[in-house]
Amino acid sequence: MSATEFSAGSGSGAGDHRPRPVVAVVLVAAGSGQRLGYGMPKARVPLGGEPILMHALRGVVASGVAQQVCVALPAGDGSLRQMCDDFKDELVDGGPLLTVVEGGGTRAESVRSALSALEEGTQAVLVHDAARALTPESVFLRVVDSLAAGALAVIPVVPVVDTVKTVEATRDDDARIAPEIVVGTAPREKLRAVQTPQGFDLDTLLKAHREVAGFSEAQAAAVTDDAMLVERLGIPVHAVRGASQSLKITTPLDLIIAEGLLEGPLGARWVEG
Ligand code: C5P
Repeated sequence: MSATEFSAGSGSGAGDHRPRPVVAVVLVAAGSGQRLGYGMPKARVPLGGEPILMHALRGVVASGVAQQVCVALPAGDGSLRQMCDDFKDELVDGGPLLTVVEGGGTRAESVRSALSALEEGTQAVLVHDAARALTPESVFLRVVDSLAAGALAVIPVVPVVDTVKTVEATRDDDARIAPEIVVGTAPREKLRAVQTPQGFDLDTLLKAHREVAGFSEAQAAAVTDDAMLVERLGIPVHAVRGASQSLKITTPLDLIIAEGLLEGPLGARWVEG
């Protein structure tokens, strides 16, 4: 199905009357969170007194874009499963269907596990990292509006502030001077840091993930987002504006920043920034 065939779904976009597709959000939350150093899955780490996953779930639901939210949880994590069950009771009538699946050993496997549990009639899917728990609802809306306007793949991005270089490990004698050597400098004005939710026409994303079946272990490990799989198919990936609050909580410093966002002047969650 092409994105232009999307029928009316959950209503019109803000400011215009383009029909929205029937959207499912895949919320990947099965990571180990080792870099955060809490000794528990990242989704369970407390942020402002609640697990990171709860913030992510509330953000997705507040955006109002999803008919279904499918959460990929760490295998065997009863506590997060219970939390999702409790959250179902909080959802008012007309809220999205909440489904839970067991994630896999890689992010891509967790995405595929969730894709296999989507409801019949789903037209588009937003793949979102639970670790980006404070993503403003405006970002969800921009992604869905772009899909409604005809994109088969769309990602939220922000400009890169650092100069970015490519490096290689130094060999032989040079290793005494420094561990790496610069081999190139990317033009910064063309670089973007990529966030989630990444939005796709469902058939396009399913096709992109089928390609991974032929990947070597090293290639599979290098799949860090879904858009790169769609790029391999030669399908255009569009970019809309992301937000600084959509930071991926990965290190203890990120957690401090996220706590600050909740407590500071941006305390109202999911506001634009
Ligand atoms: O590890 P990384 O920071 O790339 O993880 C991004 C997101 O993917 C996180 O929300 C994490 O929970 C999720 N993930 C997953 N299954 C994995 C690895 C990561 O759902 N096996």
